[in-house]
Amino acid sequence: MQAERIVVELGMGDGRLLAELAKEYEGDRSVAYVGIEKDKNLVNRAKMRLNSQSAIGINSMFEKTLILFHDKSIDLIIMVLPEPNYIDPIHYDKWSEFYGQLVYSKLKNYGILKIVTEIIDDLLEPVSDELYSRQVNWLIETFSGLGFRLIDKKDGPPNGYSSIYLDKFGADSARIRIVTLDLGKHNLT
Ligand SMILES: C[S@@+](CC[C@H](N)C(=O)[O-])C[C@H]1O[C@@H](n2cnc3c(N)ncnc32)[C@H](O)[C@@H]1O
Repeated sequence: MQAERIVVELGMGDGRLLAELAKEYEGDRSVAYVGIEKDKNLVNRAKMRLNSQSAIGINSMFEKTLILFHDKSIDLIIMVLPEPNYIDPIHYDKWSEFYGQLVYSKLKNYGILKIVTEIIDDLLEPVSDELYSRQVNWLIETFSGLGFRLIDKKDGPPNGYSSIYLDKFGADSARIRIVTLDLGKHNLT
């Protein structure tokens, strides 16, 4: 049976999140979970966790693998703590096309891009509410300019989410604040 629902995690690390998500729908072959990670050692660790038939880990650059999906085929694309090259304002020129074209084209009309990212102060001071709001608003406006609309915003990671970096950063929540943005497509044609 072909999966009716596809969930893809980009930069899945050691697969702990994907394994947890897949567990929720264990036995339901209509949902497929795909994790993509460039680090071979992490993928090997992920493969030991992803023992359900509906979850796979792929060792590749996610740009290269994402392009292989049919357009409008993915329900949920998750990125937890992407590297600066994929989220930082100073690297905008490097990542804007990736989200605005590749990610956008692969999401179903009502698909969601879920980004969980950190807000930090350049001097590693505790993050003020003002800085946090400014950076979060910048992200929302920037993704809006790339064709995405904000569906939901949550201060902190999604409930129940665990990953190498979320678990590491959790210990320093004053200096590393986390925001979760659920972004949908503006244009549904
Ligand atoms: C900051 S880590 C976050 C890992 C995991 N999501 C977590 O929260 O612990 C970013 C991950 O993305 C992977 N990565 C970065 N760029 C990638 C790319 N173009 N293709 C595949 N994986 C990539 C890195 O190897 C790394 O494991």
